[in-house]
Amino acid sequence: MRVAVIPGDGIGKDVTAEAVKVLRAAGERSGRSLDLEMLPWGADYYLQTGITMPPNGYAMLRDEFDAILLGALGDPRVPDQRTARDILLGTRFELDLYVNYRPVRLLDDRLSPLKDRGVNDVNFVVFRENTEGVYVGIGGRFKAGTADEIAVQEEINTYKGVHRIVRHAFEFAKAHGLTKVCMSDKSNAMAQGHALWQRVFREVAAEYPGVQATHMYIDALAMFMVKDPGQFQVIVTNNLFGDIITDIGGALQGGLGMAASGNLHPGRTSLFEPVHGSAPPLAGRNVANPMGAILSAALMLDTVGWREDARVIEAAVEAAVHAGQTTGDIGGSLGTSQVGDWIARKVRG
Ligand code: NAD
Ligand code: IPM
Ligand code: MN
Repeated sequence: MRVAVIPGDGIGKDVTAEAVKVLRAAGERSGRSLDLEMLPWGADYYLQTGITMPPNGYAMLRDEFDAILLGALGDPRVPDQRTARDILLGTRFELDLYVNYRPVRLLDDRLSPLKDRGVNDVNFVVFRENTEGVYVGIGGRFKAGTADEIAVQEEINTYKGVHRIVRHAFEFAKAHGLTKVCMSDKSNAMAQGHALWQRVFREVAAEYPGVQATHMYIDALAMFMVKDPGQFQVIVTNNLFGDIITDIGGALQGGLGMAASGNLHPGRTSLFEPVHGSAPPLAGRNVANPMGAILSAALMLDTVGWREDARVIEAAVEAAVHAGQTTGDIGGSLGTSQVGDWIARKVRG
């Protein structure tokens, strides 16, 4: 398998180094061939070359690799966020990675931020629409910088876009023996755009009689994720709401450093990354938690069919959590690279 590795910016570099270490260990263990090609794109590369992404970048990712592993993008030296826009959002759009799959699973009761809630209460998945919504960049500023400024940022919801993510959520539920899908929108206030979500959700739900289809407004959903997360199995929502609630999901797993994700177009080259960002204050200090990145690498292997290798990595991360072999954000005293070493050793067996 050929993987494009984009460590990116800030702690993206720190955590990706550990994910790579663990992937190599998995490859050694199973004897499978894993070709990891490091791509330098990110703030340093941009500041040196003026290029965020080479012109053939998206086609190269799509045509020459089986999967993409990314750290994070965002650097205070690039205030307009163009590395994230071109490399992360650009790849989501250009490769049409319409499913942002963000599992929320607590690995150990000790990591729970909630009183009296443990591993049995926090185990659900979020499907975030990943190619439209407010992320399309349609809009503009008129009289910018003046007291008369008008700023418009449109939210785009298409039948195709809403339909394919909602269907994906139901298909996932069916394939995994789950019985509940909750769609979340803001159709009380956004009566035009989110009426489409309502309509499509009803249409698709009717095709899955074995799955209970429920709805919550996004504000209530955010509250119930904290108050009673055990009620959720599958959540499907739009791009922006999915972004926000999966940071809450990170907190439910012990911290943002624990959360993994896949940006998927089933059957095509997909992109895997931790949910967190580049956390500039932590960058290069050997303190960032690499587990979200390592679990994203496991998700990548699982998606391309290396199921056993993925299970071995997941089990090694769980073992590290149970044994307290972790970074400080989740209560341990190890550095980023020591956690990676421990997990890689465990994977080798
Ligand atoms: P962030 O996720 O980078 O960090 C927020 C806070 O979460 C950190 O200060 C830290 O306390 C904690 N945290 C995050 N990851 C951690 C880890 N692995 N280990 C320990 N603690 C961790 O969010 P931010 O500070 O809002 O954003 C910083 C930059 O990252 C911005 O430029 C933003 O746009 C970008 N960003 C990129 C991605 C991505 O590339 N996928 C995702 C989110 C944010
Ligand atoms: C994420 C990030 C990105 C997003 C940013 C960096 C544009 O927060 O992947 O969750 O909003 O999608
Ligand atoms: Mn986010």
